[in-house]
Amino acid sequence: MNDVSMLQKAEAADTAAAKEMDKWNIVKSVIYTSGERDPTKPIPPQDAKGKLHLMGHDPRLSKMPEKPTLFDFFKHRFGPSKHMLQSAALAKRNGLPDKLVLACLVHDLGNNAFIRADHGYWSAQLVEPYVDEETAFAIRYHQVLRFYPDEEFGYTYPDSYKRLFGEDFKPAPYVEREYQYARKHKWYGSARLITVNDLYAFDPTLDDDLEEFTDVVGRSFKQPEEGLGFDHSPAAHMWRTINWPTRYL
Ligand SMILES: [Fe+2]
Ligand SMILES: [Fe+2]
Repeated sequence: MNDVSMLQKAEAADTAAAKEMDKWNIVKSVIYTSGERDPTKPIPPQDAKGKLHLMGHDPRLSKMPEKPTLFDFFKHRFGPSKHMLQSAALAKRNGLPDKLVLACLVHDLGNNAFIRADHGYWSAQLVEPYVDEETAFAIRYHQVLRFYPDEEFGYTYPDSYKRLFGEDFKPAPYVEREYQYARKHKWYGSARLITVNDLYAFDPTLDDDLEEFTDVVGRSFKQPEEGLGFDHSPAAHMWRTINWPTRYL
């Protein structure tokens, strides 16, 4: 193909993409904009004349397979996942069992791909139907445990939190309550081990990739046959929302 026809092809693709976008009036969910605008006020009018409201795939995103797997979500919808991959790699190197390596691999799905606030709870809820109960517990509670040191495990309060939240930041009372609950739980150690392996770039020269965890995921994550989002689990709708985040209803 010569340069001119390549250029023409690219232009045609751009025009088709713009035309496809023109068909849709894409409305953001209230939670995406709450704070930027007052959620109790009506949504500013949009020029939706002649346009349809999106009820499926968002044309701006890459299309996912019909029966998406956890790895498909990593490739198409999750944010850069170096931090989770590194945590899982560290957990593996430290000899943690499969269920905790998997926990590390998905521990920050909330802030990485869904909703930041209370990320441990969202992360756990997303995977709960497909993993061991202890895995879900560890993921859920790593969030609150991050705020409390535990010398026995060699876990100290992160310096990054002092920078992020200020020197005199105090966790909310519910965080303290949840911490006390988790502290006494039989799986406290498992949740604590996530915080111990939860390091940003513990070795920046290592470049771990997803395929390293194929076996761990195969053994410890019950991938639904219908694909994540299309099974009947209590979290299926959350996976569908990540797949098609801008559907109107
Ligand atoms: Fe986290
Ligand atoms: Fe983390």
